[in-house]
Amino acid sequence: MNVLMVCLGNICRSPLAHGILEAKAPNGWQIDSAGTSGWHEGERPDTRSIITAKGRGLNINQQRSRLFTVEDFNAFDIIFVMDSSNYASICRLAPDKESKAKVRLIMNEAYPHENRQVPDPYTGGQSGFEDVYDLLELAIDKFLAQHL
Ligand code: 4NP
Repeated sequence: MNVLMVCLGNICRSPLAHGILEAKAPNGWQIDSAGTSGWHEGERPDTRSIITAKGRGLNINQQRSRLFTVEDFNAFDIIFVMDSSNYASICRLAPDKESKAKVRLIMNEAYPHENRQVPDPYTGGQSGFEDVYDLLELAIDKFLAQHL
């Protein structure tokens, strides 16, 4: 299974989702993350994400932000997005129905059909990043329970 995590900047939420799933996924799965914007291309995750991950035993230092591209629709089986804005941005790029069907709001794994959002923690403090981690781990554990 190839899974891509997507948010706006690919420095706060999706690097955490990437790190959490990578640590829990079976051997052979390919996990990556990308942003709908290229604003932080080439950068490490936000320091607050790095600190949050470290506190949970995860090292996400080696990740670098990149922009989502249309080739990602071919490379990945599932494209998880964090919020409805990411969802709209990615769906706009989908070349066909099969591609669009790969795009899912990640919190729907934990709360099916509710279309809950992973809030953007960028302008807040460290606690927002801890909350994002908890949300993502909940969704990822539910997702894995259905795929292991
Ligand atoms: P992310 O958070 O989408 O979770 O990586 C953000 C990072 C950067 C910006 C916004 C959100 N920004 O405006 O630069």
